[in-house]
Amino acid sequence: MTKIAVVYESRTGNVERMARSVEEGIVSSGAEAVLINIADKEADLEAISAMDGMIAGSFTSYGQMSSGMSAFFEKSSAVHQRLKGKAAGAFASSGDFGGGNETTVMSLIQALMVHGMVIQGSSNAPHFGAVALGVPDGTALAVCFSLGERVAALAGKLASR
Ligand SMILES: Cc1cc2nc3c(=O)[nH]c(=O)nc-3n(C[C@H](O)[C@H](O)[C@H](O)COP(=O)(O)O)c2cc1C
Repeated sequence: MTKIAVVYESRTGNVERMARSVEEGIVSSGAEAVLINIADKEADLEAISAMDGMIAGSFTSYGQMSSGMSAFFEKSSAVHQRLKGKAAGAFASSGDFGGGNETTVMSLIQALMVHGMVIQGSSNAPHFGAVALGVPDGTALAVCFSLGERVAALAGKLASR
């Protein structure tokens, strides 16, 4: 079964709520989701590198990914080359309008691309990943669901090649 890691940092629950909807989308695609909030526990890089894809999430911190997610990506160099060609996507919550949720998504995407991962974009906005302002509303959660669904579907296609 296709397995997707959802790795994120959430301190006050907003990104956590987004991750739950990403999980629902992954499961609706017939895949398995493994959620890891790095604010609670350390990510098992060996386990993640054996999965079929990764969706990364973060709260916006000074317009980019959180220090925890940045530390996660630094540590992920231990499994460099083992994620290449696998499916990926990103999501983020910022506190303010124009506060940087899209630049946060882009910072996550840049790190995923350094791993050689294949990013799932969207022809409908939001194009780069799922975004929310603070507590995610129904629209943001629907986009998270769709992100999970589409990355899991892409992961299945890439894994079967
Ligand atoms: C250290 C720190 C830096 C932050 N920087 C920004 C920022 O640059 N722009 C912004 O809009 N919100 C910023 N925020 C607010 C969070 O991104 C926002 O509250 C988010 O929804 C929190 O997600 P969480 O509940 O999953 O922790 C910052 C919060 C923290 C703790």
